Amino acid sequence: METHRQDGRPPRRTPKPCLWYNNAVDGSTSQFVFTAAPEAALVAFREIQRVDPKARLLDWLAPGIGRAATDLEWDRLAATLRRRPPLFVRHVCPVQVTVRLAGSRQDLDLLSDAAATLKPSLNPSLSFSVQTRILADQTVYGRFNVNERLAAVLSADGAAIDVRQPAQVLSVVCTLDQGYLGLSQTADNLSDWAGGERRFKREQGQVSRSEFKLLEAMELFGLEFPSGGQGLDLGAAPGGWTRVMRRHAMRVVAVDPAQLHPILASDPVVEHVRQLAHSFLTNPRYADLRFDVILSDARMDARDSARLMVMAADRLRRDGWALVTLKLPQRDMAEIAIRAIRILRPRYFVVGARQLFHDRSEITVALTLRGAAPNRTGP
Ligand SMILES: C[S@@+](CC[C@H](N)C(=O)[O-])C[C@H]1O[C@@H](n2cnc3c(N)ncnc32)[C@H](O)[C@@H]1O
Repeated sequence: METHRQDGRPPRRTPKPCLWYNNAVDGSTSQFVFTAAPEAALVAFREIQRVDPKARLLDWLAPGIGRAATDLEWDRLAATLRRRPPLFVRHVCPVQVTVRLAGSRQDLDLLSDAAATLKPSLNPSLSFSVQTRILADQTVYGRFNVNERLAAVLSADGAAIDVRQPAQVLSVVCTLDQGYLGLSQTADNLSDWAGGERRFKREQGQVSRSEFKLLEAMELFGLEFPSGGQGLDLGAAPGGWTRVMRRHAMRVVAVDPAQLHPILASDPVVEHVRQLAHSFLTNPRYADLRFDVILSDARMDARDSARLMVMAADRLRRDGWALVTLKLPQRDMAEIAIRAIRILRPRYFVVGARQLFHDRSEITVALTLRGAAPNRTGP
């Protein structure tokens, strides 16, 4: 017998718990969710199609977040993307189970049931984490509620949770009426962070937002400052990247016609050269300087930035590394990025290149000198 609510009306219809596996949706082998900056989302999908011409876009779950189907198995797709890392796709995760959601607290039970069906695929000897993104505008539950509930389901047999460096991730993407779940090796997702959203806490004394960009790039590409080394910062003002280098006890030559933040302007270990980068690199006064790290965040056309880095290559020590942001226009962003990278290649080995979470209309490229053994990890 149906019980009525206290107000006398019949009970609200709640959808039946309903799970189905992805390949029942449209006959494809697998589905996945990919994430990019909203303005680069289509370009990102085209990158995926380059490695998997049969990939089909199913829908946009939110700006920059697409769901797609492919005939490739997830493992094959992930391996191909790792071998040929895309520039604009920040994150990718499989969809192995889809669940209909109601936008109520009951969703947590539905998602838990869905997670339980994936449990047999979890390797209990490896750490895991649940990474949830709630794309719907609702306040009934948040990503922490989902993370907590689903982590309890997966850890029931003793699998260890590691939120910072999990070996496996259960990715959960919730829209208003659908939940998409998929279990994968973290390394297959292109980023250790849900949707590639690597956030840092603002630090006291921080000079610019660009600092996050440098920190994110170093983490993603596995770069480290040699303590006490010599750094060159091209296009340095107001000095965020210079500040990060100083925090790692680097000596810095900061090149920019614009002013540095007073903290850096008064730092005796920062030499501020108020010239254009090109003038600095051709100035005989500085010709003998050699650097362990060369950074360039100069605001200029991507191809000019690449040419500048080629000029700077002679100043980089053989075991050093370089990092450059390539500023891209809205139109033809992929083509211009590829052309700029082509300019770099004769002198540099590309350790990694990506439109980072903290990048604006640009990509960030990590480099070592061609001929020098690449000794760093990175995509
Ligand atoms: C995005 S800001 C750099 C921000 C810096 N990375 C930070 O963390 O504070 C770009 C800078 O490039 C500088 N710039 C543009 N063209 C340049 C050039 N040809 N040579 C040197 N600096 C240049 C601008 O003056 C500007 O200060």
